[in-house]
Amino acid sequence: MGKQYVDGIADIILERLNIIDVVNSYLPLKKTGRNYKALCPFHSEKTPSFVVSEEKQIFHCFGCGASGSAISFVMKMENLDFIDAIEQIGDRYSLNLDEYLVKKYDIKSHEEQEKIFNINKLAAKGFYNVLKNNSKASEYLINRKISEDTRRKFGLGFAPDQWDYIYKNLRMKYSELLLEKSGLIIKRENSEGYYDRFRNRIIFPIFDIRGRVIGFGGRVMDDTLPKYLNSPDTPVFNKSYHLYGMNFAKNHLGDRKQIVIVEGYMDVISLFDKGIKNVAASLGTSLTDGHGKLIERYAKEVVLLYDSDQAGIKATRRAVDILSRFSLKVKVLSLMDGLDPDEYVIKFGKDKLQEMIDNSQDAIEYMLDYYKEGLKFTIKSDLIEYIDRIRPIFSTISNSIEYELYIKKIAHETGLSSENLIKELKHSKFNKKETDKKDEIVLKLKDVKLYRRLFEIFIHERKYFLELIQKFDFDELKYKLLKEVSEFLLAHEKFEISDAIDVLSLEEIEMLKETEDNIEYVPVKNGLKEVEKIYYELLLSDKLRYLQKIKEESQKVLSNINNESPIYDKTKMKYAELQHEINTQIADINKKRG
Ligand code: GTP
Ligand code: MN
Repeated sequence: MGKQYVDGIADIILERLNIIDVVNSYLPLKKTGRNYKALCPFHSEKTPSFVVSEEKQIFHCFGCGASGSAISFVMKMENLDFIDAIEQIGDRYSLNLDEYLVKKYDIKSHEEQEKIFNINKLAAKGFYNVLKNNSKASEYLINRKISEDTRRKFGLGFAPDQWDYIYKNLRMKYSELLLEKSGLIIKRENSEGYYDRFRNRIIFPIFDIRGRVIGFGGRVMDDTLPKYLNSPDTPVFNKSYHLYGMNFAKNHLGDRKQIVIVEGYMDVISLFDKGIKNVAASLGTSLTDGHGKLIERYAKEVVLLYDSDQAGIKATRRAVDILSRFSLKVKVLSLMDGLDPDEYVIKFGKDKLQEMIDNSQDAIEYMLDYYKEGLKFTIKSDLIEYIDRIRPIFSTISNSIEYELYIKKIAHETGLSSENLIKELKHSKFNKKETDKKDEIVLKLKDVKLYRRLFEIFIHERKYFLELIQKFDFDELKYKLLKEVSEFLLAHEKFEISDAIDVLSLEEIEMLKETEDNIEYVPVKNGLKEVEKIYYELLLSDKLRYLQKIKEESQKVLSNINNESPIYDKTKMKYAELQHEINTQIADINKKRG
């Protein structure tokens, strides 16, 4: 997760590849003169206008205009983002990209990961073959209306009713320790030996975005509990970062870049089977920031299509909260009659469900409606309660037209005037946050701890706050939390968390609240120096984050510019200068920090 490669990794890779080989592995190229030609894979055509130049190492389609390097070709063909594409290329052409990772990279753990991938692949193949010859399991899937094609596509399998199927088949090739690490076998507690985790279950291999098997889900074929078993977290499997079906879904997001998120494996498979292919699910857990990031990398719009039971409604609300922090359009679709998406598509058909998806409700509207529950607007205290409930929602709306529309809607429903509503809600972040909404920043745990400590000091020993604010300009931080909190602290001699709701986001309040609740305050020992040091740490981390952002942005921008064009060098220079400047600042902070 969050891997970073050195600057210029693209060039390093391109030097070691021939675009002709790369393209040829996808479509047959014909040599014509100095160049190679083919029918363009990116639009439909009858005569070839897709040209690859070996000399320049680029492709260009004179029909649709698609063009770029071998890397951009793979990105387009496989619908992968830059990092995933270069890693796939790295694997395929044995380029060993690890040495170009920015972070120190543990080769040993990498080798272990590779082995676990292999174990998983072998196990998946085994389960798949078992299913083919097991009529009871095949029947189960037929009863669930899953076609043979879909079954094959998702690599569905069956774990035989046996304690040592995996153990027996894989222990010759891999150590028990490694097999145990893969999560496929479990050490016996009270005696010697191991046994298989998955027995007598339909097997759902779980793929990462590049299609590698990272883990498994297993379902019973009757009402036995637990209904599902999943692989535990392993060196290659973390439920918070992967979505089931995402490897396929990413190829079907369409022009809207829309993804439908459902709750269950069966929902993904069933919808895909019926032709709704932009669908993925979390792995039996609720949605996390990690999932949000993954979705944001590939999609622009998310439709949450959860089961319509109480648990589903709760999960929807949580997911809306999480996803609204990303630059994603979030929508919600609740199906009637307590049906889950799988049952619904079987009962009413693909077209009906697709229509429902197309008309799904805006998440904001959904939440505004949701909060009405149990309240009567004719009762004054209920009305006030409602405004309190919806205030945080309004703080997430960054589009002013949208903001106005929702104000009008609420005004209409509550009978309050728009002016009054705006006044009541305006203390939300909307007014001042619009501009820096774009650079949503996810803090590292270390930073969160530093911020907490700093605020704790501010609250308990206010003099340090006053000294720090004199000495530094908090505006130099890209992450605006410190600035906002200090403005708040300046205005409030006495700290009351309830006052903070107007100025801070819920996340920020959460952070402060913990500080306030923490009774075991450890006073500052080394005076202002100690407090300054915390500030420098934060500043440094802020700069490094910014530097990384600039690097990523420059890679993205440059990979979209033909490197023969004159703006390429100009742009590259501009980014280099900016990076140099930030690096100087970083060195400077490091010096001051001591
Ligand atoms: P079907 O009931 O066969 O239609 O499967 P489903 O995928 O619709 O499952 P369901 O809606 O009951 O649950 C949604 C998801 O939650 C599943 O796909 C699993 O990932 C997870 N889940 C459900 N039951 C269990 C369980 O007993 N244990 C664990 N660990 N996860 C479960
Ligand atoms: Mn289901």
